[in-house]
Amino acid sequence: MNTLVSELGRWSAGHGPLYQRLAERLRTLVGSGVLGTDSKLPSERDLARALEVSRTTVIAAYRLLREEGLLESARGSGTRVATAGRWVGPAVPVAVTPATKLISTSAGDAIDLSGAVIPGLDGVSDEALRLSPADIRGLAGQFDYAPLGLPALRAAIATRYTQGGLPTGPGQILVTTGGQQAIDLLFTLFGRDHGTIITENPTYAGALDAASAAGATVLGLPVDGEGLRTRALSEALDRTAARLVYVTATCHNPTAAVMSTARRHDITRLAAAAGVPVVDDTTLADLLFDADSPPPLAATTEAGTVVTVGSLSKLCWAGLRVGWIRADEHLIARLARLKVVTDLGSSHLSQLLALRLLPGLAELGVVRRRQLAERYELMADLLRDQLPGWTWERPRGGPFLWARLPHGDTGEFAQFALDHGVRVLPGNRTSPDDSFTDHLRLSFVLEPAQLRTAVARLAEAWAVFQVRRGHRPVEVVV
Ligand SMILES: Cc1ncc(COP(=O)(O)O)c(C=O)c1O
Repeated sequence: MNTLVSELGRWSAGHGPLYQRLAERLRTLVGSGVLGTDSKLPSERDLARALEVSRTTVIAAYRLLREEGLLESARGSGTRVATAGRWVGPAVPVAVTPATKLISTSAGDAIDLSGAVIPGLDGVSDEALRLSPADIRGLAGQFDYAPLGLPALRAAIATRYTQGGLPTGPGQILVTTGGQQAIDLLFTLFGRDHGTIITENPTYAGALDAASAAGATVLGLPVDGEGLRTRALSEALDRTAARLVYVTATCHNPTAAVMSTARRHDITRLAAAAGVPVVDDTTLADLLFDADSPPPLAATTEAGTVVTVGSLSKLCWAGLRVGWIRADEHLIARLARLKVVTDLGSSHLSQLLALRLLPGLAELGVVRRRQLAERYELMADLLRDQLPGWTWERPRGGPFLWARLPHGDTGEFAQFALDHGVRVLPGNRTSPDDSFTDHLRLSFVLEPAQLRTAVARLAEAWAVFQVRRGHRPVEVVV
């Protein structure tokens, strides 16, 4: 029910009778695959209660959709998306990634703090403008899909690792369409047929989506200030036939924690002993505010059992869609066979730009980290001032603040926030077992003016939420 309510989002915005707006939003959810053939809908009474509308609104919306043939109801088995009469297709088993990434659920005029789509730095567009007609003709003139990536880019990424102290050959690099595809390929390979993937809990929401789409079983393990807890991992490896461990060792999403050196050794040792590869997602690793990033987890062990995922999305621009996997050559060959089925290869133009950007990455990093640190300070000041009950630890870097609310369910609060024009990510969306319902992940990557408006709206939403949920008496103005 919570998922449906959150997917319904700001359904009541717009014109026309409420029941028609609700019907319209349900239609969109069916069209986009959030609800599929045979998906069961909540009873009219339950949905009315969850949406805080009258039962007649839901009854009228369901009736309209039944008349259109989209829903069907049978006595005793409730209301479902119709199986006959109209081709709908099954529900798509993906519901975690901030919904604003999908066209059908645009945030409208809401300010989006739920994801971390960081605007590209000027250095990126400058470099793009330096691409010459000859560069582009050269690329187009000798086209082959190059599913593993442009050879020059593979070599340049490998050289960066080697120069950073982790000897790497070009054959160990697979260029991917962003870090997300890298995770998806790994999870598809290791997670198929209900394979168990161990993740941190909380973890990156997009990784949970990838696991769900792959049909994998996810086992989330607790983290502390040093990273994934060693004993929990050791027990899980003994107890389950886990096939993969996925961590964000440096600048964890969402807490920005950095795994300690001792923990890095423990984890790679345990996983190597169990014969289970560890994926170290370094997508956020270059975003630490005050310290140099430690080397990737792969540098901790010579066993070759650590796979590194990288991306240019955060330092440069997510619109590039350039990421990569560093692994041993055999694994790269297997992953390439999966990638070729998905997209035959990543965009050559983006890869050429990525190649040109790599030498200047250190300078771009300085600009990006300063920008994020400043925005964090602003966001923290605004929150301390307007939402004094919310608590968090200063993140060591990255785009997120992981806030704890003094009471209430953040899934419910997220609806109030959306009604007040701010989209936030409830903590349970980062958790394979639906915990962290008292946390919110707030990104602070937007322009200062937008952050100011967003926090003011959050404060309004919080005031209303507390009154409605009985956490605060209604103030009587005399
Ligand atoms: C930890 C982590 N991994 C992967 C990604 C996906 O990044 P990309 O844009 O490279 O696909 C993100 C995006 O926020 C992320 O936070």
